[in-house]
Amino acid sequence: MTFEPKLELHLHLEGAAPPAFIRQLAAEKGIVLDGVFDAAGSYVYNDFEGFLKVYEAATQVLRSPEDFARLTTAVLEQSRAQGVIYTEAFLSPDFCGGRDLSAWRDYLAAIFEAAAAVDGIEMRGIVTCIRHFGPEAARETARCAAETAGDVVTGFGMGGNEGLYRAADFAPAFAAAGEAGLGLTSHAGEFGGPESVRETLDHLKVTRVGHGVRASEDPALLRRIVDEGIHLEVCPGSNVVLGVYPKIDAHPVDMLRREGVPLSISTDDPPFFHTTLPQEYDTLAATFGWGTDDFRAVNRMAAEAAFCDEATRAALLARLEP
Ligand code: ADE
Ligand code: ZN
Repeated sequence: MTFEPKLELHLHLEGAAPPAFIRQLAAEKGIVLDGVFDAAGSYVYNDFEGFLKVYEAATQVLRSPEDFARLTTAVLEQSRAQGVIYTEAFLSPDFCGGRDLSAWRDYLAAIFEAAAAVDGIEMRGIVTCIRHFGPEAARETARCAAETAGDVVTGFGMGGNEGLYRAADFAPAFAAAGEAGLGLTSHAGEFGGPESVRETLDHLKVTRVGHGVRASEDPALLRRIVDEGIHLEVCPGSNVVLGVYPKIDAHPVDMLRREGVPLSISTDDPPFFHTTLPQEYDTLAATFGWGTDDFRAVNRMAAEAAFCDEATRAALLARLEP
């Protein structure tokens, strides 16, 4: 299924680093990475917590604005080659200077200078706190986000281990980011059930939810999501590889779409899940019979929910006209 152009709203910049890119940087810096790759050179882990550990270990080789600039170029060239014209990347001050505002500005400048040099694809940044680093770190991350909000930093989000803390613990961070005019999204309903999605909506005031697929288990919550127009950033391949669903046939994405839930399709951390956006589309076409009209519809919903200015949104919607 070769629908183009594509929009992607849920992509972690470090999580999109090809293993060969991380190995190359590690070799240049003389860093030994233990337990990150298997014999074939792919990222290796057993479960979600193992995934988060390997993700953070691989990210340790990214140590300067220049490293992130190189990563941005590699990731955007890869996305562009797959027909993506607009991408929102999760960017974490934790990995970019340790939440120091002045360092964060340097990393951001390098990342978006690199992004501007890749023609044919636009990127916006969602500054992302990491749930298992705790609410205080999230406050510091929100400060980095609020201080750099503008044309390229347009959103604030949260990833990490959904099993730790309560959504309400992060309310001050999200309130500060929201006051700075940033669009708000948080991972929820991935490893947490419907209650986690409900708490996220109640306390973090997000308009989008990363994953959110476990909301499919609760009809009342689904109705709320439809009524409030909450957009789900659905990453089917990620959910199957991390074991949220045993196989793609059991994934609720088709049911959610039929229920009228606003949603879009993304890859999350593509090399970690052995996927690409075209592969996700192929799988949805083969499993649920999705065709051009379905892909046009989900990309339109992505444009409608994108954290971008209205001129950019109108231009994206125009590109999606048949
Ligand atoms: N960080 C990167 N990928 C993630 C995922 N799928 N869930 C939570 N945090 C993440
Ligand atoms: Zn994610």
